[in-house]
Amino acid sequence: MYSKRLKAIGGYFDLQLPSLEEFYPSLIKLNTGRNALEYILKVNGYTCIYIPYFTCEVLLEPIKKLGIEYYFYTLDKNLDPIIDFKIESKECLLYTNYFGIKQATINKLTDLDFNLIVDNSQAFFSSPLPGIDTFYSCRKFFGLPDGAYLQSKLKSSAKFERDVSFDRMSHLLISIDQTIEKGYESFKINNEVLSNNPIRRMSLLTERLLKSIDYEECRVIRNRNFRILHEELSEKNQLSIDTSGINGPLCYPFLAVKENIKRKLISKRVFVPVFWPNVFNWTTSKMFENYLAQNLVPLPIDHRYDEEDMERMINYLKQMI
Ligand SMILES: Cc1ncc(COP(=O)(O)O)c(C=O)c1O
Repeated sequence: MYSKRLKAIGGYFDLQLPSLEEFYPSLIKLNTGRNALEYILKVNGYTCIYIPYFTCEVLLEPIKKLGIEYYFYTLDKNLDPIIDFKIESKECLLYTNYFGIKQATINKLTDLDFNLIVDNSQAFFSSPLPGIDTFYSCRKFFGLPDGAYLQSKLKSSAKFERDVSFDRMSHLLISIDQTIEKGYESFKINNEVLSNNPIRRMSLLTERLLKSIDYEECRVIRNRNFRILHEELSEKNQLSIDTSGINGPLCYPFLAVKENIKRKLISKRVFVPVFWPNVFNWTTSKMFENYLAQNLVPLPIDHRYDEEDMERMINYLKQMI
């Protein structure tokens, strides 16, 4: 047998990608955000977690797997947590950096005396605060099959296998070769197979892809696009947004009650997700989180779009609101 460490010379070419720097080279690299949460819960031996009603249901995967007690908490109209309960020493509270625009809230939460977990899945560019357990889900920001970064105070001594992700790449390839619509079925399947996996180390492919990204360019474009939308839409936006700390956010969160905004946008090939369908099952129709899930329009602002694309969305929305 040959040694894997002996560099191969010759043979066919692989995919040629730029060799740049990762954004978080010193964080722990895992397969998914939910498994990063599992790591934190396990290594701290938490017995109970408080999570927001307004989040993605896949976070329940590690909680249920470990048999940890969980309770939901509510948000105020600024998306800040309403903490009217006591968090004991073996308990923790998870807060999501919503749309990447809630860093100021996280800064305040770190001054309080309880175990905080920061979910930065929607805030790739928000660096972790010293000593605060924080995780990221890389595919929410870039064309990747999976991948998570984790900052954890405590380190696990477990030896995790490395993930392999080449067979979850089809949607990324189809959307280049054909259209984003043609790749959508594959996207859903590749998303599904991320469920119920053990904690694994990030795949070599995902790591390689993360080294091919110009992060500064992506961050600058997101900031510019966010500001363009905010300038034109903030008056109609029911969410009040402090733009002073904007740092490569996920999307522009536009909250307005108008029938069928999303359906009309989709008919113009503007695709906006629902954050999050599970919230309808977890809440009653009178709750703010239910209203958010129903009416929030997360407008895309990422590196794929220029000023003209922003103007196109603004024009559509101005005709609707
Ligand atoms: C807010 C939030 N946190 C965490 C996750 C989990 O990330 P991953 O899919 O990498 O496990 C998701 C979605 O999947 C999410 O929307």
